[in-house]
Amino acid sequence: MKAKIMFVFLMLILLSCNSDSTKETKSTKETANFNLIPAVNTITKSNEFAAIDRILVAPSLDARLQNLLKANLTKFKIETQKENNFTLKENKQLPTEAYQLNITTKAIEIAYSNPKGLMNGLKTLNQLQWLNNGRLPQCTIKDKPLFKYRGMHLDVSRHFFSVAEIKQYIDLISAYKINYFHWHLTDDQGWRIEIKKYPKIQEIAAKRKETLVGHYNDQPHQFDGKPYGGYYTQAAIKDIIKYASTKGVEIIPEIDIPGHTAALISAYPELSCHKKQVDVATKWGVFFDVLCPTDYTFSFLEDVFDEVMDLFPSKYIHIGGDECPKDQWKNSEFCQQLIAKKGLKNELGLQSYFIKRMESYLNKKGKQIIGWDEILEGGLAPNATVMSWRGTEGGIEAANHHHEVVMTPTSHCYFDYYQSENPQEPLAIGSFIPFEKVYNWNPIPKELDAANQKYIIGGQGNVWTEYMHTFSDVEYMFITRMMTLSEVLWGKKSNSLEKFVPVLFNHINHHTQQGVNVSNHLLEVSYLPEVNPKTGVSLQLNSPLSANYHFKNPEEKAFQALAKNGKIKLDKSGNYEFKATANSVTGRTASIRFSPHIANFSKISLKHPPSEKYKGNGPTSVINGIIGFEDRYGGSEWLGFEGTDFDATLQFPKKQKLSKIDFKFFKGEGQWIYLPKEIKIFDVSDGKNVEIGSSTNIQSKDKIARITVQLTSAPPTIDALRIVVKNYGKIPEGKQGGGNRAWLFLDEIIVQ
Ligand code: ACM
Repeated sequence: MKAKIMFVFLMLILLSCNSDSTKETKSTKETANFNLIPAVNTITKSNEFAAIDRILVAPSLDARLQNLLKANLTKFKIETQKENNFTLKENKQLPTEAYQLNITTKAIEIAYSNPKGLMNGLKTLNQLQWLNNGRLPQCTIKDKPLFKYRGMHLDVSRHFFSVAEIKQYIDLISAYKINYFHWHLTDDQGWRIEIKKYPKIQEIAAKRKETLVGHYNDQPHQFDGKPYGGYYTQAAIKDIIKYASTKGVEIIPEIDIPGHTAALISAYPELSCHKKQVDVATKWGVFFDVLCPTDYTFSFLEDVFDEVMDLFPSKYIHIGGDECPKDQWKNSEFCQQLIAKKGLKNELGLQSYFIKRMESYLNKKGKQIIGWDEILEGGLAPNATVMSWRGTEGGIEAANHHHEVVMTPTSHCYFDYYQSENPQEPLAIGSFIPFEKVYNWNPIPKELDAANQKYIIGGQGNVWTEYMHTFSDVEYMFITRMMTLSEVLWGKKSNSLEKFVPVLFNHINHHTQQGVNVSNHLLEVSYLPEVNPKTGVSLQLNSPLSANYHFKNPEEKAFQALAKNGKIKLDKSGNYEFKATANSVTGRTASIRFSPHIANFSKISLKHPPSEKYKGNGPTSVINGIIGFEDRYGGSEWLGFEGTDFDATLQFPKKQKLSKIDFKFFKGEGQWIYLPKEIKIFDVSDGKNVEIGSSTNIQSKDKIARITVQLTSAPPTIDALRIVVKNYGKIPEGKQGGGNRAWLFLDEIIVQ
């Protein structure tokens, strides 16, 4: 009898729990939202929602796993209950990092290969919940990543971010299954990690007396006069590492050596070859104060790395290696003797000696080094992983030597570059990497042999913070492109940009609603000009999200609708404006300045193509009458040539009189961009080759240089013109980028 009563009583409890936990969700016509980023490998969808409004885990579930659920299923109520609806199953048959998620009417099951696989499953579950306003659609997902290294970097030297902000960064990246956080902790402008043995790092190297205002290219340089500093205590670092581990993120610390060390040398001048006091840098760029490869330096660094290794459990330690000018080593008797003693070829050999010696120390402690691709110079350290940033060449070379490679080229992965050409964008370092470019990126360089592709372990987005003063600035620059990168590194299962854009729109709206400063360029109008020697210039409008377009001609007051697939003919001097509307949302107004001239009706061919990174909308960018940025290079109107000349032939449909040509160049010597040595113009009509104009000694105080070349042609004789703009050539030693090829940037060539 007693047992019977007990049974009924238990049934009542169970039923009440059940009815509570499996409360039928109100039936509505709402369809399930599966707009996951990154898109999953395979999914069997249902339009039915599960009747689950909280997660019930068995009391027997390991406490560590329970904590993991709480850390990652941030949108769920999680309760411990005997009658549970949540099952975790380890399945070692699944590939590394793989998981399978099954959501039925009343239960959730995740099968996972290893802890990383479990983490991935939890992220997907969390996203499904917010995508569906708190409900869970029934589905079966089978998923795994394409690349094992999915990284995001953050520079905390140029600007410093609080512990709470670093955790926010980790939250954001981990939600998108980014599994490595490359923490750039040291640079010329400040060391941000506490090193207990060397207190002057905290007292001196962590602070600078002021900071550059505006862009580096704005001359003369101006400073804010305000001291700036900050560092993470070892306790704070431990706290962040622990936090990241619960989010499935491994933190790789970077201690950048032997260059980018002005801040360290300001605290410990004896680490340099000149041993003189220097200031912690107050502006951006590359500095000549680098570490001297003395025994003192190595023993100092070993102490520093001992503390770093005690803190960070990651198998990887990043030791920088980038942008180390060799000038002080060239002038140092000690370095020259060391080169001779060790039988090294030159200063590049010395850099290699430096890196290899540090690698050997770190390897002995069970760690593996990562370095920027300069660590290839003079010979690669035996076990190093290479981050290929200056392009893909370093990555290809390292992979061909069977070294692990993380691709992070400036062409696609620098999220400090502009993401829109709209002049309302916040000030950035330069260049242009819209999210579409990130989407179209393939981390495997096409030149790499199939057999060596496996050495490319993944990719990384870099967030250098010279121009990001606050964490809100950081959010604006990285989130949209990070979400896109995550899609690429997971395997781009969205299959096309067209399919990805509405998904991205969904995520941007979500973050915006959460008060995050995420950039939204999905209704930003871009234009594609067409130059036709017979009819002149016309434009086609486009935007990432499919939209209706409106435009306004110069001198007109009202916008007019553009017919579907219609084009705008440019024939009036002045500003044209455009805007896009979709789903009742209108994007920012974009505008261009059009300046009509004779070469709008010409055909251009170039002897040397512009750099792949700075090719604008192709060679016609410089004759289409559309004037590029006035304060920066890049975008669709500027062409950039690395070490080569601009050597163009313009063919006109008929002979005509020409009087002058106006040129617009960019000067930014800190960014290796130089004015040309000279300009020469030739009349090449009818097989002639007669010089009809030139300019030498080209100088400018400003970053935009306007040069006019008067022509000496007799009218009307010309229908073919050759324009040769000579690249500056090799950058002088002692300047930023000394010894490298100078860049030449030019915008419109206005022919009159
Ligand atoms: C770098 O951008 N200097 C790695």
